[in-house]
Amino acid sequence: MKTILVANPKGGSGKSTLSTNIAGYLAQRGDSVAMLDLDRQQSSALWLGMRGIQLPLIDLLGNKKSDGDYDWLVIDSPAGLHGKNLAHALKLASKIIVPIAPSLFDLDASRTFLEELAHEKSVRKNQCHIGIIGMRMSPRTKAAQALEHFLTSFDLPILAYLRETQVYVNAAFEGKSLFDLPHSLAERELEQWGFLQDWLDQK
Ligand SMILES: Nc1ncnc2c1ncn2[C@@H]1O[C@H](COP(=O)(O)OP(=O)(O)O)[C@@H](O)[C@H]1O
Ligand SMILES: [Mg+2]
Repeated sequence: MKTILVANPKGGSGKSTLSTNIAGYLAQRGDSVAMLDLDRQQSSALWLGMRGIQLPLIDLLGNKKSDGDYDWLVIDSPAGLHGKNLAHALKLASKIIVPIAPSLFDLDASRTFLEELAHEKSVRKNQCHIGIIGMRMSPRTKAAQALEHFLTSFDLPILAYLRETQVYVNAAFEGKSLFDLPHSLAERELEQWGFLQDWLDQK
């Protein structure tokens, strides 16, 4: 089983949106997928509860269970994840995806987190790969430039820029990801996912 941890210490950076859409993508392509929701707000659990039975199945794991017979486990995490809880989540993860929203405050809050990550054993030993998502931003904008500039001190890839759009918001109301929508509704967004999709399949 491959485990993806979606984490950023800042609330509202896009963790639940990203987790649910990654799970939706993997399920839609036919893989077996479970989610673990570590956040007390239980956004991903709520979303899973709204998913119609006609959609590709995504299981919800109880907090204590961390393994099972799945191709993928996607972990949604709370704001402020650090210290012991972060170390525990990292033990499970083979990939960490960090969504960063376009503001000075979000960049600043992410710095300490990325530094803390860099010191974790599994990251140092290259057992765990980290990728960044520019959340609610488009490439070649001022926000994207600020993110790229910010990342010059970290050797980390930007896997995607996911632009700000109601498509994510509306899909979530129906327990859906982009990948559960008619292609015509999500075409522009899906284009932004290509590199991230390839990265998930890399070792
Ligand atoms: N790409 C996007 N376009 C539009 N709204 C978004 C996008 N990503 C996230 N949001 C919205 O931003 C808010 C915070 O996102 P959320 O995924 O709940 O963040 P977190 O889980 O990190 O707190 C939510 O209202 C969500 O619908
Ligand atoms: Mg959340």
